[in-house]
Amino acid sequence: MHAATVTAGDCEARELRFPLQFRIPIRLYIGLTRPTRVTILGQELAGEIAGVGRNVTRFKVGDAVFSATYFRFSAYAEYACLPEAYPRLKPANLTYEEAAALPTGGINAMHFVRKAGIRPGERLSINGAGGSIGTCAIQIARHFGAEVVAVDSAGKLDLLRSLGADRVIDYTRQDFTRLGETFDAIIDVAGTSPFSRSLNVLTAQGRYVLGNPRISSMLRGRWASLTTGKRVIFEMAAYRDDDYDTLLKLVEAGVVKSVIDRRYPLSQTAEAHRYVESGQKKGNVIITMDR
Ligand SMILES: NC(=O)c1ccc[n+]([C@@H]2O[C@H](COP(=O)([O-])OP(=O)(O)OC[C@H]3O[C@@H](n4cnc5c(N)ncnc54)[C@H](OP(=O)(O)O)[C@@H]3O)[C@@H](O)[C@H]2O)c1
Repeated sequence: MHAATVTAGDCEARELRFPLQFRIPIRLYIGLTRPTRVTILGQELAGEIAGVGRNVTRFKVGDAVFSATYFRFSAYAEYACLPEAYPRLKPANLTYEEAAALPTGGINAMHFVRKAGIRPGERLSINGAGGSIGTCAIQIARHFGAEVVAVDSAGKLDLLRSLGADRVIDYTRQDFTRLGETFDAIIDVAGTSPFSRSLNVLTAQGRYVLGNPRISSMLRGRWASLTTGKRVIFEMAAYRDDDYDTLLKLVEAGVVKSVIDRRYPLSQTAEAHRYVESGQKKGNVIITMDR
């Protein structure tokens, strides 16, 4: 392995900081009182194939790949063992570090933008636009012709502009649902946009994508989808082949780039987690394995 990442999701997994509906099943999976079944965290990586099983046909030793590890975790290590279905060949124009950041940021962004059903010229608000998912979502949504209003904290706004956001909003100073403006779609990556007000600022056929849904917003969302022309969507990314194909085409064409903030060697992974938890992370934080 050459690179892994520290995402918000890794910190949440380490602390078992999940919405209520996931807490018990994940605790049972990871270990009831302490992590016993999962002892190495890390959910995405990039590296070279060092060995393949007897029945593997898609990869050979030496192939450069990147991969999500899903609930196997295990990316913070020099080697990982994954099913053949997980990795994808690394685009030649990306470094290992850039490729390692693609599964969480790129695929979830691709999924959320697709679910938002963006058409050219539509107005989209991305709440929590400065992280792993948001930085990719801005680039993808702009490519599909959206006018993007990107919401995050002040220190990230220049980055969001440089990624193509038409307008940026510092959520500590302004609430995007109180601007007196409407949106065709909202992608709430951070999981903090106020439910009723977000629904109110959507156009009649607007779509509200919940990236980090709570049970209450899922129930209210189901009701709103049934009783209004608006749709509330809270489907998790399934890491579909067509999302990978579209994302990789955009990456290879240079339309979507992974944003890398800091790099930490494997031995300083705890420090990397502390930095991510500080909230300062812009885009992605990388763990490097180079020996
Ligand atoms: N549903 C799914 O399938 C799925 C998949 C992957 C991840 N997720 C979840 O989605 C969330 C985001 O993932 P990520 O990797 O993009 O996280 P991330 O890299 O930490 O980005 C989240 C961004 O949201 C900003 N933020 C925090 N509070 C905010 C607020 N009140 N208003 C607007 N922005 C705010 C943060 O900035 P500051 O810290 O500066 O405030 C940060 O830039 C995580 O909780 C993750 O677990 C969901």
